[in-house]
Amino acid sequence: MNVLVTGGTGALGRHVVNQLRSQGHRARILSRNPKGQVDAVQGDLSTGAGLLEAVSGMDAVIHAATQLTKLHATDVVGTRRLLAMAREEGVKHAVYVSIAGMEGVAYPYYKAKLAAEAVVQENIVPWSILRATQFHTLMETFLEAFSRTPFLATVPFKWQFQPVDPSEVAARLVEVVVKEPAGHLPDFGGPEPRIFKSIAESWLKARKLNKKLVPLPLPFKFSRHFASGRLLIPEHTDGKITFEQYLEEKYPG
Ligand SMILES: NC(=O)c1ccc[n+]([C@@H]2O[C@H](COP(=O)([O-])OP(=O)(O)OC[C@H]3O[C@@H](n4cnc5c(N)ncnc54)[C@H](OP(=O)(O)O)[C@@H]3O)[C@@H](O)[C@H]2O)c1
Repeated sequence: MNVLVTGGTGALGRHVVNQLRSQGHRARILSRNPKGQVDAVQGDLSTGAGLLEAVSGMDAVIHAATQLTKLHATDVVGTRRLLAMAREEGVKHAVYVSIAGMEGVAYPYYKAKLAAEAVVQENIVPWSILRATQFHTLMETFLEAFSRTPFLATVPFKWQFQPVDPSEVAARLVEVVVKEPAGHLPDFGGPEPRIFKSIAESWLKARKLNKKLVPLPLPFKFSRHFASGRLLIPEHTDGKITFEQYLEEKYPG
């Protein structure tokens, strides 16, 4: 099968590309900067550049691109553009990657993700949506941001996540894309709900960072929502790889 992977250079998409190729499928990457990538088209969802070339000849699209700095243009308008061109080119299935439990959580990113889901559900191309919990890579992005102060990691202790390995989400996407469009798929969650304090402790240990861990009170609605466990889906513990196993692989010894 010929599959376009948007975001094919990202934390999730790189696993999708590798897994598709290792199973004998063609995976074409859409990237703003495809230098050094095999079978990649240069393009930009926020402008529409390269999208027609990217979807041409593809049977399906796994849409895993996202851009925080141009969120609406890329994730919402870009999704519409991508699907409109995919339809013109006869693409039969669009698989969109989204986020579990985000309804009502006051995080601006989720507003754009919900709007993008709504675009997908317009059925411009027959679709499937897979919602996942937060990736291990995102835990690290958060923790790096909270540890910029020398000797300190200042962290919202009470946030709750169910981190999942992007390689396992990728495996589910690859299973799904070869099948018929299925609409909303069952959510995909990591192996265990966790509080952020314990995630931070494991990360500091694996990185061998000698920093004092201190609580960070964040007086924002989204922070209260994160702490309330709204993003957890304990009934969907699909992923097997724990955050500690991910760290062990990335920072051996
Ligand atoms: N991270 C999480 O915890 C999490 C959890 C659940 C669902 N998701 C969803 O999973 C998807 C992938 O997330 P991720 O964490 O893997 O993202 P990521 O690592 O930040 O990668 C973003 C990707 O988007 C591409 N991209 C950005 N702007 C673009 C543009 N204007 N035009 C074309 N491509 C563009 C980038 O490619 P180039 O830089 O090569 O252009 C990159 O490959 C997203 O839809 C996200 O909402 C993420």
